[in-house]
Amino acid sequence: MHIFNTISETQQYLKAQQRAGKTIGFVPTMGALHAGHISLIERAKTENDVAVCSIFVNPTQFNNPDDLKKYPRTLEHDCEMLLPAGCDLVFAPSAEEMYPSLPQLRMDFGTLETVMEGKFRPGHFNGVGIVVSKLFNIVKPDKAYFGLKDLQQMAVIRRMVQELSFDLEIIPCPTLRETDGLAMSSRNTRLSSEARALAPQIYKALNLAKEKLQSGASVIEMQAAVNEHFTNNPEFERAAFRMEYFEAADFDTLLPIEAKIADGKTALCIAAFLGGVRLIDNIVF
Ligand code: PAJ
Repeated sequence: MHIFNTISETQQYLKAQQRAGKTIGFVPTMGALHAGHISLIERAKTENDVAVCSIFVNPTQFNNPDDLKKYPRTLEHDCEMLLPAGCDLVFAPSAEEMYPSLPQLRMDFGTLETVMEGKFRPGHFNGVGIVVSKLFNIVKPDKAYFGLKDLQQMAVIRRMVQELSFDLEIIPCPTLRETDGLAMSSRNTRLSSEARALAPQIYKALNLAKEKLQSGASVIEMQAAVNEHFTNNPEFERAAFRMEYFEAADFDTLLPIEAKIADGKTALCIAAFLGGVRLIDNIVF
């Protein structure tokens, strides 16, 4: 497994692979890898000749400086996990390598970013769009793998690939969970043991909401049930556990479903703060 810090080494190696007729599967990450990330790498290796993982904590997508500072950085351990997963190349650039100067370009994803993550993290998807475009141009993958855990990010990247004619295929991958239902996330390592014990309540709330809707409740009734789940609970208050948003959205447009379940697929999406750590999750049905 090669570990490169520069764009030029990475391009040189990958251009030679492409000239030899090899296909390239790519998994962009911010490191602090867990089994969810590894499942994407394994799939990339199964479906392509060469599997590439990028590890870069992208400063331009963090709207909260404290979150950026506290984001776990575990490059050595990440590489130990990537090797047995079949990864061929790790691209781990510095911020100076990626941004010799701050990008002036701005990406605006329209209605895709006026809701949920886009609404609560202004500028986040601009940062994601620019870094993923740069990474696509550096790696030139045939296929790129993204987790459904970040449903809105997936929608934004799909739109970007389509509108900018990137010559690659986006492959959506299922969310891996801990045995108690908590969606795997690099941020989970920042939870105290008390907070970790409460964290599966996020997935419980999603399932509670799904059951409500499926048994005929309106979206408003469903939201009231979820609000009740999160309020007036002394244990939640002690752990600083509070919901930021809970939306029922159309899977394709991500626009809120106000009155009833749409004909297409419905996504239930949640963001919550737990002991100062921001977690997101969703289910689709
Ligand atoms: P990061 O949060 O490291 O996630 C990298 C990829 O792993 C994303 O596609 C994400 O959806 C996927 N992933 C995260 N948790 C997962 C889980 N539990 N199961 C399956 N897949 C999971 O997303 C980013 O980094 C960044 O925004 C990035 C795209 C790299 C741009 O900086």
